[in-house]
Amino acid sequence: MNDTPNTPASTGKIMLVGLGPGSHDHLTARARAAIAEADTVIGYVTYIRLVADLVEGKEVIRKSMTEELDRAIEAFERARQGKKVALISSGDAGVYGMAGPTFEVLFQAGWTPDSGVEVEIIPGASALNTCAALVGAPLTHDFCAISLSDLLTPWPTIARRLDAVAAADFVVALYNPKSGRRTRQIVEARRLFLRHRRPDTPVAIVKSAYRPRQRIEFTTLEKMTECDIGMLSTVLIGNSNTFVRHGLMVTPRGYRNKYDVESGATRDGEKAGRSLSTGLTGWLAGLHASGLGAAELAALHRLPEDYIAALLAEPVEPDDTADEAAGAEA
Ligand SMILES: C[S@@+](CC[C@H](N)C(=O)[O-])C[C@H]1O[C@@H](n2cnc3c(N)ncnc32)[C@H](O)[C@@H]1O
Repeated sequence: MNDTPNTPASTGKIMLVGLGPGSHDHLTARARAAIAEADTVIGYVTYIRLVADLVEGKEVIRKSMTEELDRAIEAFERARQGKKVALISSGDAGVYGMAGPTFEVLFQAGWTPDSGVEVEIIPGASALNTCAALVGAPLTHDFCAISLSDLLTPWPTIARRLDAVAAADFVVALYNPKSGRRTRQIVEARRLFLRHRRPDTPVAIVKSAYRPRQRIEFTTLEKMTECDIGMLSTVLIGNSNTFVRHGLMVTPRGYRNKYDVESGATRDGEKAGRSLSTGLTGWLAGLHASGLGAAELAALHRLPEDYIAALLAEPVEPDDTADEAAGAEA
């Protein structure tokens, strides 16, 4: 692998294919075509099984869970021989998938985009998209994903991230929440979240989304560790506004801050198509008008005092917010 890394002779290709959750209905047309055009398909045994009917007649290389770098090295070796290689991941290849390790291997070997091996990344629906779709609309406001796998990430790093997002009221999708050996990580995640969130915060646990053994459980932050969680589960933890109604977990986008949802009328002090009265411009004007000092305002808004002090030192800007309704996405 280390000899003549930049030889542009071959016209091989590595296709990083995201399979989506696992059902053919949710496999994109491009992902299907990429597998069809591949000479070689490389992947974790379980993922190969998900597309077994699409890989007949091809060279198939099955690797275990821990052999990501081997998968990438094999893919690069085949591509340098002129082959088209589909390197498959569940969900999206760029979300805790094969895209990262593949580029690490390629860069280590001196690969560049014009060195004779093409790389195409074919997106797929990640577990957070597919699991969210099965439980309602939990990700309609700011969210983030955290993997509880400490196989490659130190626990203090994971714990700091959990603590930060719990405090910042993100909806969170926990990937790799638990395995046969890693059972305490989810217990610690719950402990950190309970420092910032109510015990009755809604939680949904989706196992094997869109696969034959799919299982969906609604619970709360307090009780989530009593549920059936495993390697094929994604845990969705709501924010302080998330609710469950008629078996659907929903995180409101914030329309109630501006509109009466029943009548559609704009609330007093708010304007359709403009930032909220507590949006940046209105909030800045309020800071200046409050007469309070930076320390008091920092405590009130739970923001750093030096940030507030810098804002107070700047002149008040006129409210020239453009009409945002036209550009807003539904
Ligand atoms: C190594 S990560 C791979 C993530 C994948 N690349 C993605 O974008 O969804 C494996 C984790 O993804 C989540 N996951 C993948 N497929 C899933 C499915 N069908 N149902 C629920 N969770 C899934 C689980 O949290 C699992 O532990």
